Amino acid sequence: MKVSILGGGGFLGRKLAARLAADGTLGGKQVTALTLFDMAEPPAPPGAPFPVTTLAGDVVDLPEAAIPPGTEVVFHLAAVVSAAAEADYDLGRRVNLRGTDAVIDACRRLVAAGGPAPRVVFTSSVASFSATQADTLPDDARQVPGNSYGAQKAAAELILADASRRGFLDAVSIRLPTVIVRPGRPNKAASSFFSAIVREPLLGLDTDLPVADDFAVWVCSPRRAVDWLLHAAGMDTSTMGLDRSINPPGISTTVAHLLQALEEVQPGAGAKVHRVEDAAIAAIVGTWPPAFEPLRARTLGFAPHEPLVEVVRAFVEDDLAATRAERGLD
Ligand SMILES: NC(=O)c1ccc[n+]([C@@H]2O[C@H](COP(=O)([O-])OP(=O)(O)OC[C@H]3O[C@@H](n4cnc5c(N)ncnc54)[C@H](O)[C@@H]3O)[C@@H](O)[C@H]2O)c1
Repeated sequence: MKVSILGGGGFLGRKLAARLAADGTLGGKQVTALTLFDMAEPPAPPGAPFPVTTLAGDVVDLPEAAIPPGTEVVFHLAAVVSAAAEADYDLGRRVNLRGTDAVIDACRRLVAAGGPAPRVVFTSSVASFSATQADTLPDDARQVPGNSYGAQKAAAELILADASRRGFLDAVSIRLPTVIVRPGRPNKAASSFFSAIVREPLLGLDTDLPVADDFAVWVCSPRRAVDWLLHAAGMDTSTMGLDRSINPPGISTTVAHLLQALEEVQPGAGAKVHRVEDAAIAAIVGTWPPAFEPLRARTLGFAPHEPLVEVVRAFVEDDLAATRAERGLD
């Protein structure tokens, strides 16, 4: 099975590539080739038991080699993330909308040439909804985004569902929760602080908290996000009908509970978190739903989430040492 990851150099793209390299299989089938595509040439995962091609380019002008003929699974992760898409409307619209158009056209060309319709696993976002802090959203909640990134993700879901109906591809869009704990440095996602309030104290560094301690958020771990992407790549889509989008089974937590989990793993670490209000960040994340009732995802076999303290421990096990080295903190 040939697999492509668009956005293969990003946080989740690298984790996904590493997992494919470790497993060697996807959905019970042997992976025979992996293509990683991103703006800068992504690193190949070490020890992959199959050939890995790494390519640099723009998803909007998607080169043919990014999704070679015979590709069965495309993970479309390439995106301009939330705060960046809000700050630069043209860039977000270009990459998040036109980039998805380009993915559809590439798949369409493969089908027109007689190939199978590739499974496209698309990373949509919880930011495609808006809600109050008191809401729990059912599976059929309407997407009424409160920011440009969310609007672009919702629009991409729709055109991918239509392309599936037309047989150009076979899409599963996963509306990912805020993925914590993100390794590396703070980034331009409005949700960056949810990771920073765990990661930075574990690195011995101070960090700011821009929202109140009782702020509620829908989260998942990178491990679980990767599990869901892999499940979406291999699952039977015949029961999904026209609705190709999934609210996966994340967990609803508050900042206070997250800091409690941090304290459990490293007592005293919470003292590094400083309350500094940021109205711009609070305005973006304040419209994101804090909880879902993801019944459809459970029916479709998406794995339930591990407890919050495991999320903090997983960061320590998987990413703390590498983050420390990358940031020159050793
Ligand atoms: N991390 C989260 O909390 C979260 C939550 C919800 C949804 N998502 C979605 O999941 C996906 C992966 O997220 P991530 O956290 O790994 O983000 P990331 O920013 O680390 O990765 C996205 C990648 O897309 C690439 N990219 C941007 N513009 C591009 C272009 N024009 N051409 C080619 N590549 C381009 C970037 O270089 C980057 O490597 C994204 O689609 C994101 O919107 C993430």
